[in-house]
Amino acid sequence: MITNLSAQNSLVSNWMQEIRSVEVQKDKMRFRRNTERIGEIAAYEISKMLSFKEVEVVTPLGLKKQQVLEKQPVLATILRAGVPLHHGLLNYFDHADAAFIAAYRKHNKNDGTFEIEQNYVTCPDLEGRILIIADPMLATGASLLLAIQGLLEFGRPEQIHIVTVISCTEGLETVLRKYPEVHIWAGDIDEELTAKGYIVPGLGDAGDLAFGSKLQF
Ligand code: URA
Repeated sequence: MITNLSAQNSLVSNWMQEIRSVEVQKDKMRFRRNTERIGEIAAYEISKMLSFKEVEVVTPLGLKKQQVLEKQPVLATILRAGVPLHHGLLNYFDHADAAFIAAYRKHNKNDGTFEIEQNYVTCPDLEGRILIIADPMLATGASLLLAIQGLLEFGRPEQIHIVTVISCTEGLETVLRKYPEVHIWAGDIDEELTAKGYIVPGLGDAGDLAFGSKLQF
């Protein structure tokens, strides 16, 4: 299942306009904060699909039966680009556990191709949990497939949600072909992918825009 958070006009459309704009991107803090906001809205929307239980709350004037989340989710992300989106989800799921994956594109010299190197995963037991993976740019889907595979070694979650800022159609198809049960949430969906695996028009390099450019090894 795919939900495009820009399918209906809302504040998300404003934030997506700023996230994509080369002018606004000069302000890293705004880029990170807008990305976080996409995570916050996704958290709210995902919460509507989760199980709730009734508790009784004592107010200063009486008692009230109230619904609260039955299970706390596990929020996973891929370092480093995923950090602001992950933070947005954490802002709303107050008591969530977290999982982290270190992965990067190892570029082959001169020919523009790359392999995904994944070298670190830290994760709680996922058996029966709600797993929410923050991956801002779903491009080819290669790094996300590797991340899901690595995470599933920690147990079988009850639900898997993937939160992205921009998903491209090719990446969506690749992930859903392998894992048809996952629900993918996108700030917006773009059609095109360059030979180097960048989304067009996209936004550029999400990690660099949030944290500054890095040396390529
Ligand atoms: N990662 C990015 O940061 N941007 C893209 O367009 C694709 C992958």
